[in-house]
Amino acid sequence: MKILIDKYGRKIDYLRISVTDRCNLRCIYCIPKCGVLQAVEEEMLNIKEIVSFVKVAFSNGIRKIKITGGEPLLRKDIVELVSCIAEIDSIMDISMTTNGVLIKKFASELKKAGLKRLNISLDSLCSDKYKKITKNGNLEDVVMGIERAMELEFSQIKLNTVIIRGINFDEMLDFVQYSVKTGTIVKFIEYMPSKNSLGGYAKKFVSADEMRLICNEKFSLLPTVVDGNGPAKYYSVYGTNGTIGFVSPLSCKFCSDCNRIRLTSDGRLVSCLYAHDWVDIKNSLRKGPDIDELTKLLFRAIVSKPANHSLIVQDNQMEFCSMMRIGG
Ligand code: 5AD
Ligand code: SF4
Repeated sequence: MKILIDKYGRKIDYLRISVTDRCNLRCIYCIPKCGVLQAVEEEMLNIKEIVSFVKVAFSNGIRKIKITGGEPLLRKDIVELVSCIAEIDSIMDISMTTNGVLIKKFASELKKAGLKRLNISLDSLCSDKYKKITKNGNLEDVVMGIERAMELEFSQIKLNTVIIRGINFDEMLDFVQYSVKTGTIVKFIEYMPSKNSLGGYAKKFVSADEMRLICNEKFSLLPTVVDGNGPAKYYSVYGTNGTIGFVSPLSCKFCSDCNRIRLTSDGRLVSCLYAHDWVDIKNSLRKGPDIDELTKLLFRAIVSKPANHSLIVQDNQMEFCSMMRIGG
């Protein structure tokens, strides 16, 4: 069995695939001030092209796939795509990050197609605030989607909650309570600088340490380990079924353990969220897939993976392009 090791000794076994840059929400921390430029349909990779690359990635050591967007459930062929990836090999761990609006409708088909785990973005438990944060989202849709996914017993359901001071920082304990009530894992994420319209970044940023202190005021947290691909630190909520995690891309860089590369919906391999360059694989795929050439392109992306990012928490820092294009 092959494994992929980059030049800093990191084992790369995780591929995040953004399958569309479209989204049915307009979250205030995600959508760029200047609006979003969407790729035309023909620029997006089709199922055959994505699967051809995933096969090459798998044969070189990729074992975990995360399907992201934009909103992946907007893609009409999403169930078929999941099933084609699942068919590559049964050991492939396939998960999806979704905003949850459409999950109720798709959960059962996705489970049957081979999706194992779900990450659902949820930034408020209060309908009005949820609407404000997402611009037009309906909290009920997401909550019903989570309940449906729980009924179907996905092997893991995580909620992604980006904490922003002055927006949802006051809801942290409610989220812990939600985890206790439902048994879902709530992952609190540090707000990262992006080209959004929120402004005043430094004042809105809350570090994972501060988040943990708030949770500790009411709950006892015990370090625990949770299956997954990412760098979150997890805690079980003592005496309950609840589990929470903290992801700290800024306050505590985890680049030295980074195991991921990304494929964008328009066919570019990106080795780091903050990298300014990429390796195009669309041309190669459209010529008719050549395994040797795709393998070389995969290696080129791995070789270009930087040791770390150089983000500094600063006001007006606008470091990376929209998550909608690259998939978070
Ligand atoms: N900071 C942190 N996470 C973000 N996401 C999007 N924009 C940001 C940001 N500025 C992530 C969130 C969301 C997912 C779709 O992308 O986790 O749930
Ligand atoms: Fe919100 Fe995710 Fe859509 Fe961005 S991509 S607007 S974070 S739901």
